[in-house]
Amino acid sequence: MTTMESLIGLVNRIQRACTMLGDYGGACTMLGDYGGGDNAFSSLWEALPSVAVVGGQSSGKSSVLESIVGRDFLPRGSGIVTRRPLVLQLHKTEEGSQEYAEFLHLPKRRFTDFAAVRKEIQDETDRVTGRTKQISPVPIHLSIYSPNVVNLTLIDLPGLTKVAVEGQPESIVQDIEVMVRTYVEKPNCIILAISPANQDIATSDAIKLAREVDPSGERTFGVLTKLDLMDKGTNALDVLEGRSYRLQHPWVGIVNRSQADINKNVDMIIARRKEREYFATSSDYGHLASKMGSEYLAKLLSKHLESVIRARIPSITSLINKSIDELESEMDHLGRPIAVDAGAQLYTILELCRAFDRIFKEHLEGGRPGGDR
Ligand code: GDP
Ligand code: NA
Ligand code: MG
Repeated sequence: MTTMESLIGLVNRIQRACTMLGDYGGACTMLGDYGGGDNAFSSLWEALPSVAVVGGQSSGKSSVLESIVGRDFLPRGSGIVTRRPLVLQLHKTEEGSQEYAEFLHLPKRRFTDFAAVRKEIQDETDRVTGRTKQISPVPIHLSIYSPNVVNLTLIDLPGLTKVAVEGQPESIVQDIEVMVRTYVEKPNCIILAISPANQDIATSDAIKLAREVDPSGERTFGVLTKLDLMDKGTNALDVLEGRSYRLQHPWVGIVNRSQADINKNVDMIIARRKEREYFATSSDYGHLASKMGSEYLAKLLSKHLESVIRARIPSITSLINKSIDELESEMDHLGRPIAVDAGAQLYTILELCRAFDRIFKEHLEGGRPGGDR
């Protein structure tokens, strides 16, 4: 692994360890109790980047996330399927090691069957919301450990809607928007704004919200799904080439699996190959083929994330040093009653922060700051 990969990996693990202290709010309260007042720990969490998908219902958000991960594990389909935020942490592991998933609410169970992961997401959603069309802002936390992923935190969110359907309270349209906003308005949130190509971009909920919270477009990636479903004789070149709506980052076109593909269990490898072929052989998009598709999007995102973290290393390092100081004095004062698990988690975070600091210093001593290629 490169130094950057190790640093991003550590950032990821610190985020996860923070989450395990309870929820993020709980962790801050706890440190507030012991450390008092100004809290490096909460700032640390806030300083770490994540990627959230935003868009209208059934625009293809969950499908895009799955393609980025390269695994089938998310519930997808028409109507409101994603009903709680899913905070998905990808952890890159050593080449050859076995891929597995773990839920925060089931810490002792390792999932190696990804169909079972999908079922658990559905069941855990139903546990909180009932088997209804209701939503809940309480996130589900899932970690995937695999040699085939990049270190990344991805957040799947319910889709923006225009009207409440049968079985939903009138407030649902507003509730979903508020929920989505709490994620995307954080300055460290990278926004994957998903719009379907078979609808006019001027009606895109994703672009509307992204423009509000990120007017300069510096942390928004425009993703155009369903290119295969456009009316014959039309194409999306105006959008993809940035003439319809300009963003700082290039637009990426995607062809996900159709519902028929999902019903036929077309697997990820085949779907990716079909997507590559679609662009390579397209008379409209052939000239853009190398900059289209899910695999390209995943690479683009991880490169961006790397540059964001690289730019923030000085501030992350100083926050981490502050956290180390706070945590060390926490550990000294742990004479007070504290849950055993919480004590262990604080210790883990402390260790991770120290590792970050050490690797970062070695990196600096090794030569060019921030450069490892
Ligand atoms: P979400 O509600 O935004 O998370 O959307 P989903 O990922 O659940 O997808 C909604 C439906 O659209 C599913 O039936 C998908 O199979 C289908 N879908 C998503 N993206 C594409 C695409 O690029 N092409 C086609 N043909 N269908 C797609
Ligand atoms: Na859907
Ligand atoms: Mg979804």
